[in-house]
Amino acid sequence: MKKDIQVKPAEGKLGVLCIGLGGVASTLIVGTLMARKGLAKPIGAFSQIGKMRVGRGAEKQYLNVGDIIPMTNLNDVVFGAWDIFTDNAYESALYCQVLKREDIEPVREELEAIKPMKACYDPFYADNLLNPEFGRVPDPVWAKPEDTRWNWAQALREDIRNFKQENSCDRVIVFWIASTEYYIPRNDAVHGSLATFEAAMKADDKMNLPPSMIYAYAAMMEGCPFIMGAPNLCVDIPAMFELAQKNNLPIIGKDFKSGQTMMKSALAPTFKTRLLGVEGWFSTNILGNRDGQVTDNPMNFETKRISKSSPVEWILEEEEYPELYSNIYHKVKINYYPTRKDDKESWDNIDIFGWMNYPMQIKVNFLCKDSILAAPICLDLMLFADVALRAGMSGVQHWLSFYVKKPMTYDDERPVHDLFQQFAMLKNKIRELGGYEPDQELD
Ligand SMILES: NC(=O)c1ccc[n+]([C@@H]2O[C@H](COP(=O)([O-])OP(=O)(O)OC[C@H]3O[C@@H](n4cnc5c(N)ncnc54)[C@H](O)[C@@H]3O)[C@@H](O)[C@H]2O)c1
Repeated sequence: MKKDIQVKPAEGKLGVLCIGLGGVASTLIVGTLMARKGLAKPIGAFSQIGKMRVGRGAEKQYLNVGDIIPMTNLNDVVFGAWDIFTDNAYESALYCQVLKREDIEPVREELEAIKPMKACYDPFYADNLLNPEFGRVPDPVWAKPEDTRWNWAQALREDIRNFKQENSCDRVIVFWIASTEYYIPRNDAVHGSLATFEAAMKADDKMNLPPSMIYAYAAMMEGCPFIMGAPNLCVDIPAMFELAQKNNLPIIGKDFKSGQTMMKSALAPTFKTRLLGVEGWFSTNILGNRDGQVTDNPMNFETKRISKSSPVEWILEEEEYPELYSNIYHKVKINYYPTRKDDKESWDNIDIFGWMNYPMQIKVNFLCKDSILAAPICLDLMLFADVALRAGMSGVQHWLSFYVKKPMTYDDERPVHDLFQQFAMLKNKIRELGGYEPDQELD
């Protein structure tokens, strides 16, 4: 057995600070607390119930991830949060109506103890949260006073230090599970290096520095890995790559690959493998939770649209097969429909063509529960981010592309979107971290 990277043992407590205590975060927390009491199964979480092969031939064996690499035990996880609503995790779980009351009550006391800290909130980046037309608005808005971006970062750093000390945490992960922000493009004059980024914070450049970037900066300055669960630009910029390398921290993003996009990243490779052409791909959704409310603003939706479009564009390589994929009409829509709450419904109509250009159609109608799909992804991401931290793996964590819609890469790299290639990458990194040889076998 060779062992190049050492993963330190998972000793002490792991703090997980969720930015946003809404549908996904509360579902993650309730499920984790229920699972550790043995009252629910962490279905969908590879880190908990997945088995994978290590070794080949006579050496071959199928093991749980925790038997290959040292994983933090769920009993050692402590959750905290920031939000602009004052709801504690119990109140939030009830409000979001993802889970039944009977599945929340057994952990009520622990949930009530998770009270959000005041957020760094700039209404420009998620203004629908304050729009009473959509229903409940935060009252009061549970946010830190308006201040410069630099001062906000200092206040967040203090929050992280206090949380770590009060909960006797050995390590802390900071996790954006908050709203999708208003679209901003990368601007290298600001985002191009850590020096320009810090100068912009001091100059309070609000238009180039959305709140998520300030949380990420504060997290990494406090030695915490950062995960971006929304499609926000945030850590996907050279300044953050530099900070992650400098402080030897993993960064992961972006946008959980939970429902429709998971299906796309499984279907598109099928067409490519069989060399079937694609002429059009129409994807639409109805969604009634607070995420749907925020992305009803066209500029918040734009951030999401880019992320949701990218798997099809990257998997069906137009340059390689122009006759099959150069004229795809790809449309992605999300319609806010409050009646459905978290029960998202997505439709995909795919116009494909085969032998002698004969056309065919495929329809996919996925009646899902958005946060039920996202919660196990969150659990795996936070535990694997902790593994990466303990292994001293800094910068973009390509091996976790499996979990995200728009895997981050450095500028000169190609992202891997194919779900099955991503799964192979994940398993090979686990093999490597466990001291086993990575391999090309399929299982
Ligand atoms: N559910 C899924 O399957 C899925 C998939 C991919 C991505 N996501 C993303 O995950 C995120 C969370 O989704 P959700 O359904 O839980 O949404 P949600 O609206 O229920 O929760 C988000 C929470 O973030 C809070 N928030 C907004 N700005 C904040 C700030 N600056 N600081 C602290 N808190 C802030 C909001 O008040 C809200 O409570 C969204 O960005 C969504 O796009 C979800």
